[in-house]
Parts: sequence; C-alpha cells; structure tokens
Amino acid sequence: MLPDKGHCEWLERNFNKKRNLNRRIGVIKVITYGTFDLFHEGHYKLLKRAKALGDYLIVGVTTEEYDQTRGKLNVVDSLVTRIENVKKSGFADEVIIESSPGQKLVDVKKYQIDIFTVGSDWIGTFDYLSDYCKVVYLERTKNISSTMLRAQKKHIQRIGVIGTGRIAGRFIPEAKLVSGVNVEAVYNPHPGSAARFAQKWGIDAYEDLEAFYGAVEAVYVASPHETHYSYIQSALEHGKHVLCEKPMVLKRAQAEELFALAAKRGLILFEGIKTAYCPGFSRLLGIACSGMIGNVRSVEACFTKLEGPQSRELTDPNYGGSFTELGSYVMLPIIKLFGSGYEEVRFDTIEGEHGLDVFTKAHFRYPNGLGTATCGLGVKSEGSLLICGTTGYIVVEAPWWKTAYFEVHHEDPKDVEKYTDRFLEDGLRYEISDFLSMINGSSKSEFKLTRGESIAMAEVMEKFLSEYREG
Ligand code: CTP
Repeated sequence: MLPDKGHCEWLERNFNKKRNLNRRIGVIKVITYGTFDLFHEGHYKLLKRAKALGDYLIVGVTTEEYDQTRGKLNVVDSLVTRIENVKKSGFADEVIIESSPGQKLVDVKKYQIDIFTVGSDWIGTFDYLSDYCKVVYLERTKNISSTMLRAQKKHIQRIGVIGTGRIAGRFIPEAKLVSGVNVEAVYNPHPGSAARFAQKWGIDAYEDLEAFYGAVEAVYVASPHETHYSYIQSALEHGKHVLCEKPMVLKRAQAEELFALAAKRGLILFEGIKTAYCPGFSRLLGIACSGMIGNVRSVEACFTKLEGPQSRELTDPNYGGSFTELGSYVMLPIIKLFGSGYEEVRFDTIEGEHGLDVFTKAHFRYPNGLGTATCGLGVKSEGSLLICGTTGYIVVEAPWWKTAYFEVHHEDPKDVEKYTDRFLEDGLRYEISDFLSMINGSSKSEFKLTRGESIAMAEVMEKFLSEYREG
C-alpha cells in the first residue's frame, strides 16, 4: 500500500528534523554505492574522496542478484569479498547492501544523508535525489575499471555450438552480452546446415566433430534431445566443458554417468534450463522457502505452447511430444521446492494422431506435498505457476518460466505483496553467465540447479518414456 500524502509529509518533516540535528551536532553523512568488483585504484580513490566530503561514510555494495537484473553479468568477487575490500580501504564507517533499484532514495531518508556521491560516469542519473540531499559526482579515475580487469584476468572461453536449430540461433546474440565468452564455431553433421548457420552469425562451420572439438574449449549442445547423451559424452572425453539444453538426457543412469565423467575430468557439465538461472525465479524460490506462505504443500506448474500439426514436435516419433519438449520447465519448481525424493510420480496424457503426447500431466506425491506438472503442445491452457503454503500462496502468470513478476497472497484477499524483476530478451544470458562463472571457479551457482535435481528430472523423463513410448 502506498503511504498517503499526510504520512509522506510527516516522513519529510521527520527527515529534515533529523538532518538538521546531524548538522547541529556537526556530523555530515555521506553515502555512495557500487559493485566494487576486483577492488581497484579507482574504487579506492572514489571512497577516499567520498569520505573527505563529510564525517561519516556509508557504502552500499550491490548484491549479485541486483547486478544481474541491471545487466551487470559476470561479477567475479562474491558479495562477502567485495564488502571486505570496501572495509579494508579504511574509509567506510558503515557498509550496507544494495539489492533493488528504488533503494537509494529510501536509504537517503533512512540514514538522514547529507551528501550522495558517485563517480562521474553517472552524471545526471541521480539528480532526482537532490530534493533530499546534495548530489556530488566525483571525477572518475581514468584508465581503470572492473570491466577492464575482468577482461585482462579472464581467459575468453571459446564456445562451439552443436546443432543449428531455433534455440542455437537465440544463444549467439545472448552469449554476446556475456563478457568472457566468444562463440566461434558450429557443428552439424548434415551437409550445408552448419555452413548456412555459420554464415549468418559470422562463425566457423564444421561437419567433422574432431575438427570442431579442436577449435573450442566449451560446447553448447542444442541438438535434438536424443542426441544429447552421445554429444555430451564425446565433448567431455575431448576435455570440453558442456552446457546442454534441457532435457539434458532422458535416462537417470545416463545423467549419473555423465556427471561422474565430468567430475573425473575436472569439467563443468551444466543443464540449461533458463528459468533456473534467471534472477526472478531465484527470488521466487527464496520467498517460497522463507516461510512467508508457511510450509509449501502444493506446486502446480503449467506451460503450453501450440505447435503446428506438421511440426517436428508433434510428428517426430524420436524427438517430439510435449513432456520431452516442455517437461523440464514444469518439473523445475516442483523439484526445487520439494526435492528429488518424491514417493510417486504418475502421468496422464492425451495422445495426438502421431502417437505423441500433445498434453501431459505429471502428478508428484511427496511426504508433505503434491506437485502437478502440466504441459501441452496441442492443447492450450492458462500457463501459470501456483505455489500453495499453509498460510498463503504465490501466483506467477505466464510466462512464469521467464519469471519477471509474481504476487504473494494470504487469507485476507487485500493482503497482497507484489514482486518485480527483470528478465531480459531470451534470458539465456543468465545461464551462460553462470556456466562461465563455474568454469572460472568464481561463483558457486551449482545450487541453482544441482546435479541431484538434473538426475531426478532425467529419472522422471525415463519413467514417462518407458510408460508412454516404449510401452
Ligand atoms: N569509479 C571511479 N573510477 C573508476 C572506476 C569506478 O571513480 N575508474 C567509481 C564509480 O564511478 C562508482 C564506484 O567507483 O562510483 C563503484 O564503481 P563500480 O561500478 O563498482 O566500478 P567499475 O570499475 O566502474 O565497474 P564496471 O567496470 O563493472 O562498471
């Protein structure tokens, strides 16, 4: 609920009173913000000059999630390290965490700030704060930035794409937005396919797998589902890190074997379910697990996407069907919130004319909860995500798999909290960024989709296929 005008005026008067008191007792409070990644001379000088503007310096350090939402991907240092470095400079009297875009104004009022300051690269951006405090843009130190240090420090990973389908075409522009990776090659065994794709994106084409592996250090597997296993295996055998489109594999034993192989070789194997890596979904899980809706008891996830009757997805007996196509998305929130230890999973499907499932519901039973994963390529439904707890529920409308907005509801219908995050374009940049951070050993984002969770999803795929395809 927004505060009414009277309340705003009261806050304003209170703020001015406190600020005048600060001044009377001679304390000038200064605030500044930044990521302070790979702490450098520019940061040191900025903090020194910020402190010299007053008596008490508060430094806001951004969270990784906030940086991701504002498109700053690949921050190398953890939040803890960045805070420690700011403290070590000796200029900060207090360090706070900055986690959302509207926070600066709130902080200026809350801490009764006299001077807000940042570097001159931000000139004009924070003028709106001048109604509440003095805004000072300090000259930026020349020829140094975290971006520059990241580029120097990091080896650029040369990535090759296996497959030339729609998703492969989306991957390349998204990878361009992540510093530290360069997509250089594409492989497709079908004559001409790689060459056409390569020409479009200005990369090298390969029809020979050995030669392709010789040209890259990591691969993105975007080939048809049933080919993932053998490509991942051969890529790992050739010493390449692997980011594989979902569903990574269709059998539990295959997932276990490949993760073991990656671990043995010291390589990263990463299942690309983009939802798992986007900032909004991480926040949603955090809230669901925080107790805000009590204990989670039910998760219902639905994703439908109508395909033409002659599409590969509805006709190809090997690669088609709604559950293999969309099942990873709808299983994800269930497995994330209830874990891999379901007691039972059973399926209901509607089959299309080619014998493939055009609509599927997977029902999960856990000791303390129920999950329903619904997906369809030939039946349309409201694609929403509903997480129900003992004291409230979270609802996310389609496209919840690109989580950008969700609401938390309680018994009282008027009691609703709303959350917004950014999900930029195709959103593959988030998983690419996490994949790269894991290769570089700079981030521990494995928790966003653990090996155990990928293995559990492969197990469910296997059960589904054994009941509905092979059976
Ligand atoms: N800063 C500065 N001189 C530099 C670099 C940064 O004065 N050469 C200032 C920024 O203007 C900001 C603060 O230091 O007020 C924190 O900046 P931050 O964005 O963390 O550092 P950058 O090096 O600019 O990071 P990036 O390259 O990731 O944008």
